[in-house]
Amino acid sequence: MPLQIDMPNDAASIELDEYIETIASMKYDLSCQEDLVDSAIYLKRLANNKKFLINHMSNELREIASFQKTNTYGPAVFILHSNENYFLRAVVWNPVSRIERSIENFRYDICHDHNFDILTVGYCGPGYESRGYTYDYSKVKGLLGEKVELQPQELFTLSQGRVALFRAKQDIHIQLPPGSVSVSLNLIPRSNKINEPQYQFDEATHRICRYLHSSGRELAVRLAGALGDENAVEILETIYKNNPSAHVKAYAAQSLIQLDPQRTEEVAERIQGDSALAFDIFQKERMRYGSSFELYA
Ligand SMILES: [Fe+2]
Repeated sequence: MPLQIDMPNDAASIELDEYIETIASMKYDLSCQEDLVDSAIYLKRLANNKKFLINHMSNELREIASFQKTNTYGPAVFILHSNENYFLRAVVWNPVSRIERSIENFRYDICHDHNFDILTVGYCGPGYESRGYTYDYSKVKGLLGEKVELQPQELFTLSQGRVALFRAKQDIHIQLPPGSVSVSLNLIPRSNKINEPQYQFDEATHRICRYLHSSGRELAVRLAGALGDENAVEILETIYKNNPSAHVKAYAAQSLIQLDPQRTEEVAERIQGDSALAFDIFQKERMRYGSSFELYA
């Protein structure tokens, strides 16, 4: 269950531009969870405004050529504002359709954590339900198939006006479909937590069963190994040295030996000394290329 934030019974509402200005003028450090929680009162006030979202979307539709131009999410997510500190989005949660219901083993969501904090509020509709766990990330090595101590939490519903913080690398959840269309607002701070790996968990075994990569950087590093030439070697060396992600390091090392197999021993020794997790991913990739992208069974 996310951290639930008790809010005063405040019916005040604000417009989107007021929200953006207030967050800037209050000088919150949104990478710090205390400040994020302190800022929640304004997200709640924005959610009290039942006209702003439709007005905002209508205005965007007037400029259809640039509609959601910077949105890299699917059609159920709308980016409302983005700057160097955070982005604000509206997420539409659909109920399960008849077609989806007829699909065998249909999954609405997977059990996962996040490598970013999400401050969220129920905007309209009954809201999704969330089945959740917490875990201690400091006790986890991050190996595929590793069993993690998950603490089950109460079922949580993001009803209208309810505010909660899904904490990066602490809360795990699987969202269950709402009874009818619902919308939530999310404030997502930009922080270096994004360099931590994101996991999918097997709820039956409590094991990390898949790595979830939210950017294309892992794929780009692998492509350099598959399609690159000697010019890619220097770039891969720089990525290996400077990138804090164990996953990116592992893929850079794998690509390096693909381009120059004679260096296999040297690269393997270096990564073994650098990071146990990166070495584990590297070894698994050497045994079977692409295995660290698959579902662990
Ligand atoms: Fe999630």
